[in-house]
Amino acid sequence: MGTSNQFYKTNDYRAMAYPYQITSLEQYKKDYQRSVDEPEEFWGAIAENFLWRKKWDKVLDWNFSEPKIEWFKGGKLNITENCIDRHLETMGDKPAIIWEPNNPEERTRVVTYSRLHKRVCQFAQVLINNGVKKGDRVCIYMGMIPELAYAVLGCARIGAIHSVIFGGFSAQSIADRLYDAQAEFIVTCDGAYRGAKDIPLKSIIDDALIGNRTIKKVIVYTRTRTPISMLKGRDVWWEDEMEHAESQVEKDNIVSFPATEMDAEDPLFILYTSGSTGKPKGVVHTIGGYMVWTNYTFINTFQYTPGDIHFCTADIGWITGHSYILYGPLSAGATSVMFEGIPTYPDAGRFWDIIDKYKVNILYTAPTAIRSLMSYGMDPLKYKDLSSLKTLGTVGEPINEEAWHWYDEHIGQKKCPIIDTWWQTETGGTLISNLAGVTPAKPSWATLPMPGVQPLLVDEHGEEVTEPDEHGMLKGNLCIKAPWPGILRTTYGDHERCRTNYFATYKDLYFTGDGALKDKDGNYRITGRVDDVLNVSGHRIGTAEVENAINMHAGVVESAVVGYQHDIKGQGIYAFVIHSNVHGDEELTRKDIFQTVSRVIGAIAKPDKIQFVSGLPKTRSGKIMRRILRKIAEGETKNVGDITTLLDPGVVEEIIKGKL
Ligand code: WTA
Repeated sequence: MGTSNQFYKTNDYRAMAYPYQITSLEQYKKDYQRSVDEPEEFWGAIAENFLWRKKWDKVLDWNFSEPKIEWFKGGKLNITENCIDRHLETMGDKPAIIWEPNNPEERTRVVTYSRLHKRVCQFAQVLINNGVKKGDRVCIYMGMIPELAYAVLGCARIGAIHSVIFGGFSAQSIADRLYDAQAEFIVTCDGAYRGAKDIPLKSIIDDALIGNRTIKKVIVYTRTRTPISMLKGRDVWWEDEMEHAESQVEKDNIVSFPATEMDAEDPLFILYTSGSTGKPKGVVHTIGGYMVWTNYTFINTFQYTPGDIHFCTADIGWITGHSYILYGPLSAGATSVMFEGIPTYPDAGRFWDIIDKYKVNILYTAPTAIRSLMSYGMDPLKYKDLSSLKTLGTVGEPINEEAWHWYDEHIGQKKCPIIDTWWQTETGGTLISNLAGVTPAKPSWATLPMPGVQPLLVDEHGEEVTEPDEHGMLKGNLCIKAPWPGILRTTYGDHERCRTNYFATYKDLYFTGDGALKDKDGNYRITGRVDDVLNVSGHRIGTAEVENAINMHAGVVESAVVGYQHDIKGQGIYAFVIHSNVHGDEELTRKDIFQTVSRVIGAIAKPDKIQFVSGLPKTRSGKIMRRILRKIAEGETKNVGDITTLLDPGVVEEIIKGKL
């Protein structure tokens, strides 16, 4: 947009060329067809636009039965040279990251590409100084500050595998993830600011490390000046380490730290996500394919043009932050806004202030945030200049039409295309979405697949659905037929789990866990999860995970957790709990159970409702009939489905009576 403001200059940078940018519907169709007919030629040509130390021997090798998926095999590269070094000559003083603090009174930080290069090199040196080697797992548990980006990219620079854990997870969850990843190093902060709260990150890490014998070093950045314990020999200060490293990487004002040469199929990171089993899985992405996929989807879905200011409101603790705050935008040489706080602090106009302040061109957020901000009415929008916006995006859950239209009218002022990007932690980047202003949008529909993505709707037997319903729609479980560059490669430490979770439900297909509709024009609408995974405020939470946590509470005999429709969160968590002794004080017991869930998983998994019951609807073989509980949680009192196969149909009536 070229509006210069007090924070940075724009438009002074030579445009990076993206020969693979799709600029018309015809080109989309052509590129899509080519990606299906000749995937190796198609992706090989795109990958030529990146910096490789050595070219690949083969673009793609795969089978879904093991699964084995290899992209750009034999290619050598370092992703940080693609995200940073290659921009230095032409865009060294262009902002890579603009950081907006939690407290609007605090100073903004603008990190140019040269500054990012220096800090990443310095931190890479810090990692080496602390004994981190290529392939080691480094857990990162920090707030949304530029140092988090330096930590992530510093790992990538030396080929260490980062595993970022969202700041809302508990000590127990961290301990489980540290163990699963066999992590030896942690990067954290004394604390993090989130709205009016301070989260004592280091103290949570200390709890997670009780009894831990594998962690060698904890590097601690000072953010909140919260008093913390620093264990001799294990805990070191970020500031001291960085100062020491500076003299090692910078000589005569020239910064250099050679990036480690990596194989395209070496792991880049692990990110834990919930599935239908009780234990989160460590999704593994590898370097080459993930780089190409995040870059390609970033440029094409948002229709990024050089100079644009991109604001993705996600946390880097989730995949959206990995792909569309860091790797996608940075590999494209873009300017990415990173926000430390929350949308409602100090008031519900915060996003609009940030857009106005930095003249943001692309806003990417979650439907739950839109619905929450809608509920504050129009006041927070008063006097906010949103005219810099060109493109709006949503991600994380289905967007309802009301929220879509509000976003369109009040934020985009009817002149910004809205992209509804459907994807998953496992997919690395967007799989189904319209391309802003290039392919048509349809409210509540993710619309068309990206080139390289071949969706298929199947019935429960894995047969392709071909018969439209009475509205002319195909309806089924969403699968993908062939690999795209950003697909997960394995689940850390347990490849068989990856196979059974994603590739075994239906033969030779990747199963997404989502249900979808397809219209006669080929558009897809994602209807939500068809497995036991909830989507609460855009966060994935397994019902089994929450049940396990509740069952750990003393006195709980058994529990069953289901989702129900929630106006703001999309889904709320409804727990039916059999408790042996509530001491006549249900409210206190309820609060105790909340505490247990917060300790075991984190506050994000706290049930919205807990109903105490004397029994659960079970079949004669002892299986809980969740479909009945789901109906009850949604407020259904009569048609809860067939209860004749239940061991004790009487419990259903009792549960309906006690519905909260
Ligand atoms: C849901 C987030 C409808 C879906 C990137 C998926 C969506 C899960 C959309 C993945 C969308 C994501 N429309 N549903 N545009 N985007 N989902 O792993 O159920 O945190 O399976 O990745 O979110 O969540 P995850």
